[in-house]
Parts: sequence; structure tokens; C-alpha cells
Amino acid sequence: MSQRHRIAVIGGDGIGPEVVDAALSVIAATGVEVDTTTFDLGAARYLRDGFVLDDGTLASLRDFDGIMLGAIGPAIGDTRIPGGTLERGLLLKLRFSLDLYINYRPFRGVPGSLAEGCEFAIVRENTEGPYAGEGGILRHGTAHEIATQGSVNSRFGVERCVRYAFARANRLERKKLTLVHKTNVLTFAGDLWNRVVKTVSAEYPEVEVDYNHVDAACIYLVENPQRYGIIVTDNLFGDILSDLAGAVTGGIGYSASGNINPEKTAASIFEPVHGAAHDIVGQNKANPLAAISSAVLLLEHLGETEAAARIDVAVRNFDGDPNELGTSGITTYIQERL
Ligand code: IPM
Ligand code: MN
Repeated sequence: MSQRHRIAVIGGDGIGPEVVDAALSVIAATGVEVDTTTFDLGAARYLRDGFVLDDGTLASLRDFDGIMLGAIGPAIGDTRIPGGTLERGLLLKLRFSLDLYINYRPFRGVPGSLAEGCEFAIVRENTEGPYAGEGGILRHGTAHEIATQGSVNSRFGVERCVRYAFARANRLERKKLTLVHKTNVLTFAGDLWNRVVKTVSAEYPEVEVDYNHVDAACIYLVENPQRYGIIVTDNLFGDILSDLAGAVTGGIGYSASGNINPEKTAASIFEPVHGAAHDIVGQNKANPLAAISSAVLLLEHLGETEAAARIDVAVRNFDGDPNELGTSGITTYIQERL
């Protein structure tokens, strides 16, 4: 492919811009040509002028071929931004408005981690569940107040997520898909997820299907992570499980993610799972490998599979000491081994 790709860059806060720069320079080293446009969004921007995201910015982001995002969030202990302002107003607004209905998070156990040698991925539904915003507070601030926050599970939303997960599982060497839910208690939502998995599985006779309750999955991820290929689950379970999966595979410093609109009706967002880590900003200490692995997902999404594979192999074979190399050293290490 020789076509130039138009990439929006939201470095965000803390180490976000540093790791995104590293990822972009690794992309550049593959020869894939991208034109980048930077968007100043996140906690720092909000604290400066109160801006979170508006319709105009959303509309221009929509049309890019892809979006690289670093990290969004204030420093720990900085209480100036009301909870939810950036989560609901920026991150979730982007996921919902751009219909990024898949949150794809691949994991690879690094040497020395609990899940050393294991490879699996979480396919998390990214637009529904308890994240959808259903509910509210009645009699706010009184002794009789009531807060509800329902989990939204549409047939359409569950099915498109499950289909994506099966398609992914079918491409694996070991074709295994595990539905993770809590069907013994969340009997309505669980029943829908269960039936959809059953129905779609008929189209994928080669994919072995398993089911785990989410609490049991927490044990298995720690004690027996090799049992997994693709985990498919709802928005909240997927959020929690992906932090656990990050921890057992070597820390979320290595975890990549794609917020994906598979039909490409709007730009997808690729971001490391880790946060802004304000305490190490500007010290060449941030590990860019999660951002670089997110760039692999971006390149795959753009159809640049050969460049994606080259970076992926270099990351896979990384055997340097991240603390010694620092951000720039790790970046150069990867660039030199493409
Ligand atoms: C993640 C994050 C987000 C989520 C927050 C920041 C809204 O934890 O991407 O996993 O809950 O999805
Ligand atoms: Mn999370």
C-alpha cells in the first residue's frame, strides 16, 4: 500500500503525548506514510479553558482514517475536574458517537509474568451495558433518594459484538471463544448473551465455545490463563477483566487497545490501556510499548498488515530493560529491529 493515511492525534495528558510520539515514529520507520493532525483535548485543555468536546470537533474526528490517543486524565489527587466530565464527556462520547462498538484488547504474557507465554484477547462490547447511561437519581440529596443505573443489552448490540468475536476466534490457530458473564444472577442480560452466542456459534463449527461466570474468570485469569483464546463480554465486565488481564500478563504498561468501528463508518481510536502517569512526565521514563502495540492495531485497521506484523514481531522479541532504555531507547530499539 502506498496511500497516505490521515491520522488524528490526541496525545492528551501526562505521558500521553510522549508515548503517542513514540508510536508515530515507529510507524514512520516502517515506511507507511501518515498525515497527522493534532487535537488538543483532555484534562489540561479542560483546566485551561473549560473545553471538553463539541460537535464540530466530533465531526472532524469522524472523518479521519484513524485516531491515535495517548491518555486522558488529571494527576492523581487533582480534584478540580468533577468525576465523569472527561470520561462521559470525551472518551465515552467518542466511543458512542463514532459507534466504536468493539473494544479489542490483545494480551501477551511477558517473561516473568503470571501468564508468561499466554496469548489471548478480550472483545468487549463498547457502547452498551451499564455504560449506556440508563437510569438517574430521584429525590436527589434527600434521605429517600434512589439511584438506578441499568445495563442496556440490545439484541443488535450484543450480536454485532459476538459476531466480531467469533470472526476473531476463527482466525486464531487455537479457535476458542469464551463468553464471560454472570448468567446465574443477571438472568435477563445473561440469557440474551447466551442465546446470541449459541446462535452465532452455528456459523462457526470450528470454534470451540466455552462459558465462565465473571467471578470464576478472575480466578482462571490468574491461575490458568492459557485456557483462553478470545473472551467476549459486556462493557463493564470487559473493563474490569482487561485490567486484571493486563496485570497478569505483565502490567497494563504493555496493554494495547482498539476502540473499533469494524464497518469503518467513522474513525476508530487506538490507545494504550494505561493512564496519564503525571508523576513521570518528561523524564524519558514512560514505556511506549503499549502505545506502539496500539499502533499495530491501527495499522491492521488501515490494511497495512505487513507493517503491522513487522512492528508486532519487534515488540514480541523485545528483550531490553525498559527502565534502562527509557522512552527514547525503547523506541529506537523497536525502530532498529523492524
Ligand atoms: C478504559 C477506561 C475507561 C473505561 C474510562 C476511563 C472511561 O477505564 O478504557 O478501560 O471505563 O472504559
Ligand atoms: Mn478500564
